[in-house]
Amino acid sequence: MTRPALFEPITLRGLTLPNRAWVPPMCQYSVDAQDGVPGQWQLIHLGSLAIGGFGLIVAEATAVNPEGRISPFDTGLWNGRQVDAWRTITDAVHALGGKIAIQLGHAGRKASTNRWWPGHATRVIPESEGGWQAVGPTAEPGDGKEFLGETVHALSDAEIHGVVDDFAAAASRAVDAGFDAVEIHSAHGYLLHQFYSPISNTRTDDWGGGFDNRLRLPVEVARAVRGAIPDGMPLLARLSVTDWRDDGWQVDDSVELTRRFKGVGVDLLDASSGGNSSARIPIGPGYQAGPAAQVREGADIPVSTVGMIWEPALAEHLVSTHRTDAVMVGRGALRDTNWPLRAAHELGLPNDEAPWQPQRARGMWR
Ligand code: FNR
Repeated sequence: MTRPALFEPITLRGLTLPNRAWVPPMCQYSVDAQDGVPGQWQLIHLGSLAIGGFGLIVAEATAVNPEGRISPFDTGLWNGRQVDAWRTITDAVHALGGKIAIQLGHAGRKASTNRWWPGHATRVIPESEGGWQAVGPTAEPGDGKEFLGETVHALSDAEIHGVVDDFAAAASRAVDAGFDAVEIHSAHGYLLHQFYSPISNTRTDDWGGGFDNRLRLPVEVARAVRGAIPDGMPLLARLSVTDWRDDGWQVDDSVELTRRFKGVGVDLLDASSGGNSSARIPIGPGYQAGPAAQVREGADIPVSTVGMIWEPALAEHLVSTHRTDAVMVGRGALRDTNWPLRAAHELGLPNDEAPWQPQRARGMWR
């Protein structure tokens, strides 16, 4: 039997990852003091994924400044206390044999919302109830917020430069916190996506309107982040490769943005989609893999793809046929933190090559 492609190592700059089954960023909404400091939940949650054998774990969307949080319960990287707390977590993941990246983001006009836990309303938190003023490319609130009467502050030129600086400073803190790689969150309708999508960016200055202007902020953020991290550290960018709307952002646009990302030192494009506006999305197993493969070929860059890739056979098919370089297993990893071990078994990887931790190795005995 040929060795499964899912378990071939991959090297990005100075980082070699042992396999191509990765965990995508997943917000845990578990910071309670509104101070962005990760705690024991993140430690055990991310640690358990390391024990499970994932080749790379991308920690949750972490805000580069307080107003960039999606909710008051988000993690951040805008101060030293957060660096120290993340350091405890990266040390633990490394001690458990894992590699960990962090996703740095800014929620833009989708900020100041409640956590979407069972029993919690999914809605905007008004400033009167501890929320804060959301910001965006324009004052347009986008789907949802207008029903709640919330306003959005259109960022000024100086404020946009401030966002770029905040991304760079957070990336530098991520290095201090011991992360192995950084991912820029430019997907799912958050600030950077709000800037590149024609649906949300109707600015008339250098930061909006035409195609090149709409790409300016994500590219400047990527350039600044690259400049803030070591040469040997990989930089990933997550993109919504399509808005799934005729009047929106298209896969061909993603190819061009990804080329520009590559030009400023992005090493891998993490392909997701949607999230900026209501759209009909053809959801199903591997539904984002087609567009991801188009970006991979068009921009000649390694990609990861995500989206209901929960069966090892599908993951192996996508990697072995070169549609993607890695898969991200999201909800599948929440259901089974040992997903890579199951995949190794189902795909016929010999036990002694599977990502078992020695302490768990007796689990191989059947
Ligand atoms: C997510 N997702 C997500 N995406 C992202 O870029 N940053 C984030 O912080 C989060 N947060 C988040 C939390 C939770 C609980 C879920 C389930 C999802 C999206 C996630 O990374 C992934 O793209 C989707 O879940 C699709 O993959 P699966 O779940 O179908 O494998």
